[in-house]
Amino acid sequence: MSRGTTKRAKKKSVAANPQRANPLWGGRFASGPDALMEQVNASISFDKALAAQDLAQSRAHCSMLVKTGILSRKDGHAILRGLDAVEREIAAGTFPYTPALEDIHMHVEARLAELIGEAAGRLHTARSRNDQVATDFRLWVRDAIDRIEAALGRLQGVLVERADEHAGTILPGLTHLQPAQPVTFGHHLLAYFEMFDRDRGRMRDCRARLNESPLGAAALAGTTYPIDRRNTAKALGFARPMENSMDAVSARDFALEFLAACSIAAVHLSRLGEELVLWASPRFRYVRLSDAFSTGSSIMPQKRNPDAAELVRAKAGPIIGSLTSLLITMKGLPLTYSKDMQEDKVPTFAAAEQLELCVQVMTGMIADLAVDKAAMRTATSEGFLTATDLADWLVQQLDMPFREAHGVVGRIVRLAEQKSVGLEDLSLADLKLIEPRITSDAQRALSVDVAIARRSSYGGTAPKLVRAAIQRARARLKAQR
Ligand code: ARG
Repeated sequence: MSRGTTKRAKKKSVAANPQRANPLWGGRFASGPDALMEQVNASISFDKALAAQDLAQSRAHCSMLVKTGILSRKDGHAILRGLDAVEREIAAGTFPYTPALEDIHMHVEARLAELIGEAAGRLHTARSRNDQVATDFRLWVRDAIDRIEAALGRLQGVLVERADEHAGTILPGLTHLQPAQPVTFGHHLLAYFEMFDRDRGRMRDCRARLNESPLGAAALAGTTYPIDRRNTAKALGFARPMENSMDAVSARDFALEFLAACSIAAVHLSRLGEELVLWASPRFRYVRLSDAFSTGSSIMPQKRNPDAAELVRAKAGPIIGSLTSLLITMKGLPLTYSKDMQEDKVPTFAAAEQLELCVQVMTGMIADLAVDKAAMRTATSEGFLTATDLADWLVQQLDMPFREAHGVVGRIVRLAEQKSVGLEDLSLADLKLIEPRITSDAQRALSVDVAIARRSSYGGTAPKLVRAAIQRARARLKAQR
């Protein structure tokens, strides 16, 4: 089958491209590429997203070439002016793209040649597309990290404000999705504040590690020209040049680390997305998503669907897929550059774009969320949420070993279940039936408000502690800005 396809394609393409070898690297070729070759080889459809980074890099490289005397001032000036013109054309949408020129690097250089003539051919001195693309891609990921990190900070800001409103709003805390112990909604929201804080930390760690310049590694081995790699690194905001030229053109772990950080953040977002879906369902009725973040049904007029929360929940899938995709692309690649690595961009661009969108959507949903405190409070009457508090009372007041207290309260729960009432509805006589030393003081321990207020160990859900945690969270946010 491949034979037939190739033959047919050849007939078409070679006829369409007679002897048009690539102007930038075609010196040793007698004729141009097959149309299929052009199609599989071209990355311009996606790497045009690197245009700004490519221009910045070319400017830094050009200026360094002039400073080191490798390039004349006159040529350097012409190149910089030409790059400005290219930038204007890209901004205006008049820049010509063609798959024949493969990628953004060759597009910029070819257009530069059209605009300024011979001097353009000197820009690529002491540089290869291998160190060029590694540099552009690092710059792009660095920008994406900065955008995502800032967006996560805004989400944290909204979480703190909503937590402050609900520092004393009580709802059932769950384990196994089963009623466990009462908690405050503010405490629940602050749990996500912490997750997103670590996500930001991962982004920053990744940024610090990626912030070294590959530029000047050239094809793989360095160059014979007296370049100044520290100069270009500094001009592009990198902390230093990468130490090893072979590593510089081969490394993509910066993108993997970024995608890993994106994946973890996406998982956190998907968990919150799932909680919103649950809370908005009539079984819970804890929250109502705003009209701005809800959708209707085309057939059922009564519907109010949490599509945005569901999509945030779902998009963790493709984001994790991007990490897996690049891990598999990189696995087993020998040093140094292989064209496989051109496939690094699509998953990385997609994951960054989708994660940023998810963070923004989540920020909007949380900011707009209408919280039904009464529904949350009503839900605390189910599920014997203060059973642990009664066991703690037996331990603290009767010096009962906790295991024994656990058994006693288990029998009390069974009695309440038989009577179809909550623990707080049992009479003192009922309680004494199971443990005669219980007093009316134990009954006070069964109130959810008392239970909440008493959860005052550091990091606990007592409203007083949640308010203090909010103060600290605000200070931490401020310090990170
Ligand atoms: N478009 C290529 C990429 O994205 C640029 C580097 C090409 N290098 C090469 N030796 N063919 O990886």
